[in-house]
Amino acid sequence: MRKILITGGAGFIGSHIVEQFAGSMPDCKIIVLDKMTYAADFRNLHDLLISDRIELVVGDICDYELSERLVDGCDLVIHAAAESHVDNSFHSSLLFTNTNVLGTHTILEACRTKNVPKVIHISTDEVYGEVLEGAVDETAQLNPTNPYSASKAAAEMIVKGYIHSFKVPIIMVRANNVFGTRQYPEKLIPRCCLSLIRGERIPLHGNGQNVRHYLAARDLAAAIELVSHRGQIHETYNVGSPDEFTNLEVAATICEAFGVAFEDSVEFVRDRPFNDRRYAVVWDKITALGWRPTHFFKGEIDKIAGWYRLNHQRYV
Ligand SMILES: NC(=O)c1ccc[n+]([C@@H]2O[C@H](COP(=O)([O-])OP(=O)(O)OC[C@H]3O[C@@H](n4cnc5c(N)ncnc54)[C@H](O)[C@@H]3O)[C@@H](O)[C@H]2O)c1
Repeated sequence: MRKILITGGAGFIGSHIVEQFAGSMPDCKIIVLDKMTYAADFRNLHDLLISDRIELVVGDICDYELSERLVDGCDLVIHAAAESHVDNSFHSSLLFTNTNVLGTHTILEACRTKNVPKVIHISTDEVYGEVLEGAVDETAQLNPTNPYSASKAAAEMIVKGYIHSFKVPIIMVRANNVFGTRQYPEKLIPRCCLSLIRGERIPLHGNGQNVRHYLAARDLAAAIELVSHRGQIHETYNVGSPDEFTNLEVAATICEAFGVAFEDSVEFVRDRPFNDRRYAVVWDKITALGWRPTHFFKGEIDKIAGWYRLNHQRYV
């Protein structure tokens, strides 16, 4: 039986990855290593944990002995655990460096020691920094602008070091902003849904004109599975979507889904110390492997809004 370790599997993207692999590989054993921070929820894995093929280990990726024990015998390690919210990184940046850099280093060292045959490291388009026009491919220089993206770029430097020095079989994936159910409501889309469910105004940073591309969590999970089968060891793959919206457009779409007037439902709040205006990546490389995005924000928003209506009480 194949054995897969997924770090951060009780979080947003991690739980979609667990669901993807549990569905498509019925003969594999999946171990989730998750510290169960505020961003995680047991209920993200609830239906899956009923199966004895899926096991949740509550622990820290910075714990070397635990990591070494868990990666031992794995056919694949998918490293998704991280501190992921940019706003938090402005006031708790050391936590971001600890989790995202030391945590990644610890997982990689454990994988090196135990000769794991394949590791997929999940990174972000934010490592490229602002891309005001056009889009960048995987060869672009990293130019992070906030403590979160800097910690993710630093993690990538550790990955590069392990590839060059030890030939650890790592593949990196850099994804656009991701959306879907089970996302903690600190991020824009669930924040909008929760605000409207609670009868509050949606807080929008600055003038709301920052632009992001939005990739469905299910599409990212499918991309990761594809990369696990067909990705070239030591390569990096951007994973993107053509869906590009300003924060204002996202909020307006969600107001429409909830049937409320946009003008009465938003408020503008102080912006981040620095807020990248736009990120944009070219994802031809993963397209060549046979992947393309198939779920789009405007087509999915009713389903997502419905999920938050049903589950909003978990976020009180
Ligand atoms: N959300 C996005 O839009 C986005 C976009 C691109 C890339 N990413 C990357 O994808 C990955 C997952 O992001 P997400 O949005 O699901 O984040 P999330 O915050 O929803 O989940 C992170 C998970 O990691 C766990 N975790 C945190 N610290 C840990 C530690 N020390 N040990 C073990 N587990 C720990 C948390 O408990 C949580 O379950 C991250 O690496 C993030 O950088 C996210």
